Amino acid sequence: MQESILVIIIHIKMEEEMDLSSLNSIAQSMVAPNKGILAADESTPTIGKRFATIDTESTESSRQTYRNMLFTAPSISDYISGVILFDETIRQTTNDGVPFAEYLTSLGIVPGIKVDKGAKDLPMHPGETVTEGLDGLRERLEEYYSLGARFAKWRAVIGIGDNQPSMACIDVNAHALARYSALCQEAKMVPIVEPEILMDGNHSIETCFDVTTKVLDHVFKVLEDQKVALNGIILKPNMVISGTDASDRADVATVATATVKCLSENVPDEVPGIAFLSGGQTSEEATAHLSAMNEMGPHPWQLSFSYGRALQAQPLNAWAGADENLKSGQDAFLKRSRLNSLARTGNYNPQMEEAD
Ligand code: 13P
Repeated sequence: MQESILVIIIHIKMEEEMDLSSLNSIAQSMVAPNKGILAADESTPTIGKRFATIDTESTESSRQTYRNMLFTAPSISDYISGVILFDETIRQTTNDGVPFAEYLTSLGIVPGIKVDKGAKDLPMHPGETVTEGLDGLRERLEEYYSLGARFAKWRAVIGIGDNQPSMACIDVNAHALARYSALCQEAKMVPIVEPEILMDGNHSIETCFDVTTKVLDHVFKVLEDQKVALNGIILKPNMVISGTDASDRADVATVATATVKCLSENVPDEVPGIAFLSGGQTSEEATAHLSAMNEMGPHPWQLSFSYGRALQAQPLNAWAGADENLKSGQDAFLKRSRLNSLARTGNYNPQMEEAD
């Protein structure tokens, strides 16, 4: 009895500390100092591919086990401010039967939800995609809010290639991001605006800079046209970086300088935070780049992380689908989260990778 009163008091205190009363205060909680967002919203086919790499069957039960391992890692809330969930996951519970969204909220972590329905072929534009999912979105947001989500995510995918991206691809994706963002804000949820420029290809960092500039410039124009409140969004961009197959890839300092320059020129100061995707960088690269950028601060916005693979690759491998490895998986996740937390203030050093 006494224990349950204590739990209720702790919950109330956490929610007070988080202040989720306005879009801006939710956004501020999502990019709280020294913390970042865990993107754990892989769709069922995507998590299936991740599990295949560790020879683990993807079932509703194995997905719950894995995500329970991450979310219930002790002291997660020291480093993680928000978690992006998938539709299946927001309906699942911890091993103790507490809905994941409720459990995270009780720790002072804001639960969010992926709401796009994926990137689909763009007609008349071979090799390019448009992200779908606007039909029925208002109703879906209402349900997700009732399940505890206070922010959402929509990922637009833009590739670099011969004569790509086309203006049509940039325009349809920006339009969908803005339509989604306005619907989120109407539903009192903060939209994560994610226009991802893929690393695939042999393009130079200069090409990535030019394409990222063009896309961000257009996205902000369309967001403003559609009256999206910029102090109630989080931008989730790619870093400005060489293509994966480029012959001479830019180093950490060059990536950090180019990314900060591109963002300074294109992201209005009212945006509370920028939380990068990792996009196929190694875990170590993603942390080093973020740290170098924060070392260059202060910046008008928080510069944070919203990593999927760069936070999960190591815990996934440490777990390897075996119950006896759950603690090793949590340890690997906490270590990665702690190093990214240090990167939020520019205090990461690659030698820390060797320590426990
Ligand atoms: P990655 O960090 O693996 O790119 O994933 C982030 C994400 O949420 C993509 O939408």
